[in-house]
Amino acid sequence: MGEAEAKLRVLLVDDEQAVWQLLGEKLGRCGFEWHGCSSGAEALGQLELAPFDAIVSDLKMPGMTGLGLLGEAHKRHPHIAFLMATGEADTGVAVGAMKEGADDYLVKPFHLESAVEAVRRAIRKKSMEKELEMYRHHLEEMVEQRTRQLQVAMKRIERAYDDTLEALGAALDLRDTETAGHSRRVSLYCLEIARAMGCTPEQLKTIARGAYLHDIGKIGIPDSILLKQGKLTPEEMTIMQTHVRIGFELLSRIPFLATASDIVLAHQERYDGAGYPQGLTGEEIPLGARIFAIADTLDAMTSDRPYRQALPFQTAREEVVRESGRQFDPDVARVFLSLPEQTWENIRRQVGNTRGRITTADQAEEQAFTKEMQVN
Ligand SMILES: [Fe+2]
Repeated sequence: MGEAEAKLRVLLVDDEQAVWQLLGEKLGRCGFEWHGCSSGAEALGQLELAPFDAIVSDLKMPGMTGLGLLGEAHKRHPHIAFLMATGEADTGVAVGAMKEGADDYLVKPFHLESAVEAVRRAIRKKSMEKELEMYRHHLEEMVEQRTRQLQVAMKRIERAYDDTLEALGAALDLRDTETAGHSRRVSLYCLEIARAMGCTPEQLKTIARGAYLHDIGKIGIPDSILLKQGKLTPEEMTIMQTHVRIGFELLSRIPFLATASDIVLAHQERYDGAGYPQGLTGEEIPLGARIFAIADTLDAMTSDRPYRQALPFQTAREEVVRESGRQFDPDVARVFLSLPEQTWENIRRQVGNTRGRITTADQAEEQAFTKEMQVN
């Protein structure tokens, strides 16, 4: 008999003391500690006083029956093994008790050797159940922890994506000094409209990225055309227009930007089909690109140009009304017009007229932007 087993404690419950006395003594000789009770109520009291590994209870007792005790003990001490003791005639009820949660049953008069063996087996079973439960609990905790770690990792990857995106944008800014503040503002304007249109978080992300990188293809346009002062010749215009395809080719190969690349390709399309490069009409144009068209016009009109001062937001709204159904999707136009002018003014103030490369002074705005890009 091992040291650990010697500490196992059994509670014996029977209104006839002689019954538990005999089994108790046998258990004692086998290295168990035991305690005898004459009623269910007394047993419950005893369970509160000291820990037990097993209960052997008579089925038929005055007051609380064995089944009553089983129910209570199970509720309060689910890890204690329970063995129901019955007369030979009650074995059907004893089997029923097992369905109620008893671990085994003993038939009276006890065969002492088998009774001790049954107690030992029931305790072992109980402790295995407990271990299994702990393991399961541990497993759940582990899964939860791993899920949290995965979420953090995903967030980091997402951030790395946005850094990449920033780097791409910065590469363009080096050449086209007009795009820095423009790309940010257009991206934020798009987000406002897209949100108001009920776009999903995934769509919002795609639209923000597509809008931010819409002109990335200008990286591939020669300086002589991109930076030319004055009007472009028709040939130069044709080359300039290839920026949408260059941008698309560039981004569609980057998995996390592939969906945004559709917006880049279509950002010069018009609702009436007069745009380029494919002359798509209506809903053939991706929603993000239809939203972008309005955001782009809004920003172009309300920004200073070498040849004119920035126009008021009201003028841009009037242009959207005028071009609704021609350049712009009427549904998107309606949603845009329903939003307060203050929305756009706030974004313009927040982003400012940043040009060129990101500097320390732009960091707050930078963070605000990055946060926007990571939303949802
Ligand atoms: Fe463009």
